[in-house]
Amino acid sequence: MSTFLLVVGAVVGIAYLYRHIVVKGMQCTSKARLVGKTVIVTGSNTGIGKSTAIDLAKRGARVILACRSMQRGQAALEEVKRESGSNQVVFMPLDLGSLKSVRSFAENFLKSEPRLDILINNAGIFLQGRTEDGLGMMFGVNHIGHFLLTNLLLDRLKECGPSRVVNVSSVGHNFGKINFDCLNTQKALGTGTSVMEVFQYYCDSKLCNVLFTHELAKRLKGTKVTCYSLHPGAINSELARNTSSVMLMLMKPMTMFFWKNTVQGSQTTLHCALQDGIEPLNGRYFSNCTVRNLYAKAKDDAAAKKLWELSERLCGLA
Ligand SMILES: NC(=O)c1ccc[n+]([C@@H]2O[C@H](COP(=O)([O-])OP(=O)(O)OC[C@H]3O[C@@H](n4cnc5c(N)ncnc54)[C@H](OP(=O)(O)O)[C@@H]3O)[C@@H](O)[C@H]2O)c1
Ligand SMILES: *[C@@H]1O[C@H](CO)[C@@H](O)[C@H](O)[C@H]1NC(C)=O
Ligand SMILES: *[C@@H]1O[C@H](CO)[C@@H](O)[C@H](O)[C@H]1NC(C)=O
Ligand SMILES: *[C@@H]1O[C@H](CO)[C@@H](O)[C@H](O)[C@H]1NC(C)=O
Repeated sequence: MSTFLLVVGAVVGIAYLYRHIVVKGMQCTSKARLVGKTVIVTGSNTGIGKSTAIDLAKRGARVILACRSMQRGQAALEEVKRESGSNQVVFMPLDLGSLKSVRSFAENFLKSEPRLDILINNAGIFLQGRTEDGLGMMFGVNHIGHFLLTNLLLDRLKECGPSRVVNVSSVGHNFGKINFDCLNTQKALGTGTSVMEVFQYYCDSKLCNVLFTHELAKRLKGTKVTCYSLHPGAINSELARNTSSVMLMLMKPMTMFFWKNTVQGSQTTLHCALQDGIEPLNGRYFSNCTVRNLYAKAKDDAAAKKLWELSERLCGLA
């Protein structure tokens, strides 16, 4: 009996330590205060975007919640204000699946807000389909919408330097590839809808994020704007909401134990947004609050440039 209790105790103890050290991961240790600074967080009505927004609002920043749903955005506005105790929180509608919406968000923002110190490109979708402009959904939302948004806001970021762009990517970018033929003909990274295909195009769109950060860093040389991309960890959020319920049920035990909550999941974003002294790491990729090396394909100069130029054409900037 006592051996049994000992074994149970040991298992519980190890599980507890595992969750509180390995799963939880490193925390953002920056004590930065952000009074007088303005931050945009895209996709901040739920998931790690909302946790990020709450943290930044607690630090005194003026936080713009850039979300696509009026109803979910308004609800988040109340919650972020309540949780942070700050009233410097604003909701502005932004649908990254619509170039028109991105343009009107930028116009709205530039007209009403004098500063922009940190832009956090956090919104992401894991769902196949087409955007309003006929782009592949994950390519359009995860990459092109943010590409246009960042470009439209770049002058304001430059005026307010030192400032930062933080791109929430994923470790999944390692599985990504960019099919330029398909992009040219279909405006999508791929067109299938099977589970594996959707996963593939998600990873492809996340590779775009990393490559863009690589190219942007080069284009930002000589300015006071720096940019970073990151993997936030595996997180229990709403990202998998459109995955089949059978799949979700099968994964549940694993996700409950091994995945982070959204506060833990926002730490690397906060690190990239706030940590002093990381400016020399401009354009680099982080996970677990630590800079990481990328495989060659994720820092391929030629591919990054080609993607940049194609993206300019697709959103009418060129
Ligand atoms: N969860 C993970 O394990 C994991 C791992 C690696 C990377 N990431 C990345 O982390 C980021 C945040 O994801 P999350 O896990 O917090 O997911 P989430 O809970 O699903 O949150 C995603 C956010 O993006 C918003 N969004 C989706 N499509 C949009 C659009 N067209 N326009 C504007 N906003 C849009 C969603 O708004 P609605 O509520 O209106 O849909 C939601 O606010 C994503 O970029 C994701 O790729 C997550
Ligand atoms: C994150 O880093 C901490 C400290 O080095 C480590 O203990 C933990 O295992 C890491 N977690 C992950 C998920 O890599
Ligand atoms: C990421 O950052 C680049 C600059 O690095 C920017 O142009 C791009 O639009 C951003 N967004 C995404 C999702 O990559
Ligand atoms: C995705 O999931 C959300 C939330 O469950 C639901 O409202 C939406 O209709 C789903 N979309 C598709 C295309 O399945």
